[in-house]
Parts: sequence; structure tokens; C-alpha cells
Amino acid sequence: MSPGLEGVVVAETVLSHVDGAAGRLVLRGHELDQLAGWSFEAVLALLWRDLAPENLDEARLRMRLGAAREVAFDRMKAALPALEGLSEVEALRLLLSLLPDAEAESHRLVAVAATPVFAAAIARRGRGLEPVAPDASLGLAADFLRMLHGSEQPADKVAALETYLVTVADHGLNASTFAARVIASTQAGLFSSVIGGLCALKGPLHGGAPGPVLDMLDSIGGEDNIRPWLVAALDRGERLMGFGHRIYRVRDPRADALKRAVAGLKDTGGRIAFAEKVEAEALALLAERKPQKPLQTNVEFYTALVLEAVGFPRRSFTNVFACGRMAGWTAHVLEQDKVARLIRPQSRYVGPAPV
Ligand code: COA
Repeated sequence: MSPGLEGVVVAETVLSHVDGAAGRLVLRGHELDQLAGWSFEAVLALLWRDLAPENLDEARLRMRLGAAREVAFDRMKAALPALEGLSEVEALRLLLSLLPDAEAESHRLVAVAATPVFAAAIARRGRGLEPVAPDASLGLAADFLRMLHGSEQPADKVAALETYLVTVADHGLNASTFAARVIASTQAGLFSSVIGGLCALKGPLHGGAPGPVLDMLDSIGGEDNIRPWLVAALDRGERLMGFGHRIYRVRDPRADALKRAVAGLKDTGGRIAFAEKVEAEALALLAERKPQKPLQTNVEFYTALVLEAVGFPRRSFTNVFACGRMAGWTAHVLEQDKVARLIRPQSRYVGPAPV
């Protein structure tokens, strides 16, 4: 028995390969490093290729996703009052659950297109602002930022968000993807499957770490306090947020891709330079304190910097993650549909014998 299913192989996939020992992430034959310059639509086309009934190239996907964003926006408006009192990820869960499972081919497009429309509206609602209608002529990353801020954003910010969405698009059989595949295996439908994925992503052990990275940077405050703060945290036995990974034992390739994305941004207020100093000091201290355990920067450290720099509030981070991972969830649902086998493991009964 393996309660966390570590080492248990339950699916074959053509979609992505996480090589933790070598620090590599491969998506359908492409290293993440190569994909980091691609558009989100191009990566989506790659993931859906030969799995969806119709192969759409990057340009056609961009057009169809733009149109689907407009449909999603119209459907969303009446539901906004129901979001009162919900966290941002709970609000996204509610809005996605309004989409009917009964529609056919447009499903995947609606799921991928609707998520940024909903996430942007939910983030604006948190600031007391009305939602902004999509512009179907833009790419998904550019329109996502436009819907968040109410105006088109500079190319460096769009490129950074695009790299983020591509970087998190798929990552093997992580908890949310597995959840989506289990639901897909019951033939419950696409929206039910991806909502299940979102519910798994909501947990702090999966999608919730980048906010605490920013809390750590804020708490350190200034350069003079970097080393004393980190030393004190480690002395208290705390973990430094944004370092270490269960699978990657060398570098996390996603952290490298996002570090390059951050380097292309204007460093407002010296935040990025400060974070890099914190990173360098943290890595040096972790190497001293845990020489037997290679602890490297993980994806969450630079995710926090990218998402903050492009203007998302911390409470929106999980929803932005869901916008990128929706590419992987939908592709895995397509792949699972082809397997057409109910996922139904067994449990060992350890309760009392009947009397
Ligand atoms: N800071 C300080 N020490 C850390 C650490 C961190 N970020 N990550 C791991 N360690 C230490 C552990 O305390 C442990 O020390 P010990 O052997 O002396 O007890 C050792 O390294 C091994 O830890 P382990 O629990 O085996 O690591 P894991 O593989 O189970 O944990 C994480 C992986 C991601 C949960 C862990 O590294 C962590 O909590 N990181 C911080 C949170 C974070 O950034 N999460 C986002 C992940 S993408």
C-alpha cells in the first residue's frame, strides 16, 4: 500500500515528463527552456494535438479562444452577485460550475477561455471594480492583463505572464491533474473534471505557496536584515518559502524559466534585485545547514515575483495558476477519454469484523 501513491504508475501520457533527478520538464518532446518563448496558444495547440477531434493551429486557437472569452463574459455577468463572501478561488469554482457539461467540441475552448475572464473579473471585484469585457483580437495573456487592469499593458508584462502560463501549463500527474483524470474516467464530463482539478489546486500543499514568498520578502524588509532574518527563521526550524521540492532534486527548470521572465521586467522599487539577494543568501544558508539535501529555488519563488510585477494581488495567485494549468487539465481529460477505463483502485479494510 502507498498512501501518497509515490512511485505508483497509473497512466501513460504523451503530454509531459517531469525528470526530478536531471531537473528537466519535457512537454510533448520539447524542453521547457525551448517553450518559454512560445505563446500560450501555441503550447495549447501542442498539448491538444491529435487528442482533440479537430487540430487547431496557434492562429485559429487564438481566434476561437477570443470568441469564447466573449461568450464566457456574457454568461458570467448575472452570476457576479452570488460571489459575495467567497475567496477568489471559491468564486472561480462557482463560476466554472455554471458552465453546462452538455456542450460538445467547444467545451475545451470555453474552459480555457473562461478561466482568465472569470479570474480577472473576480480580482477586480476584490477592489470594488466592475469587470472589463474581453478584446477577442488579443492573445489570451495580453487580454487577461487588459481585463485585470482595464487597459492594454506593456509588452514586457504580457511576455512575463505568457511565460508564466506556459511554464505551469502541465506537470506530469500532479494532484490536480490526477483528480481531473479520475473524474474524466467516470465520463462525468469536461467541466466537472476540470472543476475537480481546481478543487485540488486550491489546497495549500498544491497551488498556494507564492503568496507566502512575498510575505517573507515583506517581513525581511531591507538588505541589512536578509541574513539575520533567514538565520533566525532556520534557527526556529522554519522552512524558507520558495526553496526545496519533492521531485526536483537538482534545479526546478520552471524557476529558471521564470527567472529569465523576471529579468525582462522593469525593476520597480528594486523589488526584483532585493529578491535576488534574498535568494542568493537563502541558497548559501541552506547549503550550509543541509549539506546532505540539495535545496534549490523552486517555481514558487519566481512565480511570486512575476505575478506581483504584472499586477496580480496575492489573493489571485491560485486562480492565475489555474488559467495556465487549464491547458494541461483539458489535455489530460482528452487523453483519459481515449483510455476509456474507469480509475478505481482498492482499499484495504482495517475496520472491525462483523459480529
Ligand atoms: N527551508 C528549509 N529547510 C528545508 C526546506 C526549506 N524550504 N525544504 C526542505 N527543508 C529541509 C527539511 O526541513 C528537512 O530537513 P531535515 O532532514 O533536517 O528534517 C530536509 O530539508 C528534507 O525535507 P523534506 O521534508 O524531505 O522535503 P520534501 O521533499 O518533503 O519537501 C517541500 C518539499 C516543497 C514541501 C519543502 O521543500 C518545503 O516545505 N518548501 C517550502 C515551501 C515551498 O516553497 N513550497 C512550494 C513547492 S513548489
